[in-house]
Amino acid sequence: MGKMRTQSAPWRAAAVLASVLLVGGVAACGNSDTGGGGTKDDGKITMGFSQVGAESGWRTANTISIKEAATAAGIELKFDDAQQKQENQIKAIRNYIQQKVDVIAFSPVVESGWDTVLKEAKDANIPVILTDRSVDSADKSLYKTFLGSDFVKEGKLAGEWLVEQKKTASGPVNIVELQGSTGAAPANDRKKGFAEAIAANPNLKVIASQTGDFTRAGGKQVMEQFLKANPKIDVLFAHNDDMGLGALEAITAAGKVPGKDITIITIDAVKDGMQALADGKFNFIAECSPLLGPQLMDLAKKVKDGQEVPARIETQETTFTTEQAKEALPNRKY
Ligand code: AHR
Repeated sequence: MGKMRTQSAPWRAAAVLASVLLVGGVAACGNSDTGGGGTKDDGKITMGFSQVGAESGWRTANTISIKEAATAAGIELKFDDAQQKQENQIKAIRNYIQQKVDVIAFSPVVESGWDTVLKEAKDANIPVILTDRSVDSADKSLYKTFLGSDFVKEGKLAGEWLVEQKKTASGPVNIVELQGSTGAAPANDRKKGFAEAIAANPNLKVIASQTGDFTRAGGKQVMEQFLKANPKIDVLFAHNDDMGLGALEAITAAGKVPGKDITIITIDAVKDGMQALADGKFNFIAECSPLLGPQLMDLAKKVKDGQEVPARIETQETTFTTEQAKEALPNRKY
């Protein structure tokens, strides 16, 4: 008490200033806490991103694109690799909610089972952007937008090419299908699009279809089983390049010539896939672009700003034959 009474004028002024700053600081934190999840007033955006995993060349390119784009956009990125497990993604999203990031973005491992955690993000006033893959939630207000490919279209393009190639076939054309990860949007949709397209020719029959989990190892292993169980395989449709590349090993080991004895169609168009196509081991690729980073960062800035964004942003893609792959390869970035 005595000490307080004897405080000099400059000390008293400093104490008053300190308490003003303290109250001001708390108020500033309080304001941003209620203003869209963000906690900082420095204008910097923090994004929490939950990635599927590192299962394919596509995924690696996608991760690089997101990290580079975040740095270029001045966005602080918190990144988590879910190792292809939904429970890891849910955990990561809950952590981001606790950390009060400004925006959450993620590429869902599977389509179903997101409503609860998305509702938690919404209640915390943190906008969510879906990238690459979507969810099947009926309540579209649980996320701001979905940026990514039309996977049904990719499967259709693959099937339509095959229909054209086999239009003069007089007997059955046996197709085996390597599906992506079970329950993932690209696996469901590519299967659907392909089936719809080949329905145009009753000679085209899928005689076996199984998941290879989007990995090379999975593609190789399942193709070995297909080859053992089916003496006549004319076509392989693989839901991504990596599974197709794994299958090449199995086909060669079985004494068959990939691209000749078995026509191979894949999706993605990553460098290794394009090389296989240029070399004549693959026959056709429907492109799926992983370079989503710049658009994602742009969307993050807009949603943080409270601007309206389109509910769906579709990635522009193309297809490749062997000749087109030879031409495109030298400039392929991933
Ligand atoms: O969701 C995109 C798909 O996921 C890619 O086609 C595949 O390679 C990846 O694992």
